[in-house]
Amino acid sequence: MKVGVLGSGDVAKTLAGGFLKHGHDVTIGTRDAGKLADWAAKNPKAKVAGFADAAKFGDLVVLAVKGTAAADALRAAGAANLGDKPVVDATNPIADAPPVNGVLKFFTTHDDSLMERLQREFPAARLVKAFSSVGNALMINPQFKDGKPTMFICGNDEAAKQTVAKIIDQFGWDTADMGTVEAARAIEPLCMLWCLPGFLRNEWTHAFKLLRK
Ligand SMILES: NC(=O)c1ccc[n+]([C@@H]2O[C@H](COP(=O)([O-])OP(=O)(O)OC[C@H]3O[C@@H](n4cnc5c(N)ncnc54)[C@H](OP(=O)(O)O)[C@@H]3O)[C@@H](O)[C@H]2O)c1
Repeated sequence: MKVGVLGSGDVAKTLAGGFLKHGHDVTIGTRDAGKLADWAAKNPKAKVAGFADAAKFGDLVVLAVKGTAAADALRAAGAANLGDKPVVDATNPIADAPPVNGVLKFFTTHDDSLMERLQREFPAARLVKAFSSVGNALMINPQFKDGKPTMFICGNDEAAKQTVAKIIDQFGWDTADMGTVEAARAIEPLCMLWCLPGFLRNEWTHAFKLLRK
């Protein structure tokens, strides 16, 4: 697939690396190409561009920017370039405030997630929440003694979710589809839970698994 990754942080670089590893074509987008100079030198197959060109390039777009800037990044990408493409939304609505006893602060409410806000503003784009509730170091083909971890996803478009589920499978995870965009109200806070052992005990090597009888 042709994948446009929006972002220059650890998540964008890690996911872009995962797509390259699995044979996809990648353009990674940033406002400041200088931030990706080292990464680009190590990943010569990837192209570096602005948000708009990265979104235009992708048949699949990945949103991996700071939560407070997610809407701005999609605006910079441009509704026309996003079209009705599947957009993997890895963002979390983390507020610019310190955690309380290890619990991150969100700028959203329990009744209105970040992905719902983005989906309302970009109704044609087919957003799929994924990769939001695990640290970037464990995103690509992680090995756990307890088996494959579970990636919780949601979104309004079934075909887009199937496309993303194939990627999740390539990246070594099981997918658990939690339904429509409103389920992001439950999935985004998993990031708070995931980070707690890290902030409290410096443990960052876990992932969630959904067990079924
Ligand atoms: N870190 C993790 O392990 C992890 C795991 C799961 C999910 N997440 C979520 O994934 C997202 C990315 O996390 P991260 O740690 O890789 O990076 P980050 O530091 O949260 O975000 C960096 C990115 O945000 C963009 N950005 C910042 N301000 C902006 C603005 N005003 N307008 C447009 N873009 C702006 C930057 O764009 P430029 O490139 O143009 O500077 C950069 O690409 C976050 O929402 C985070 O909550 C993180």
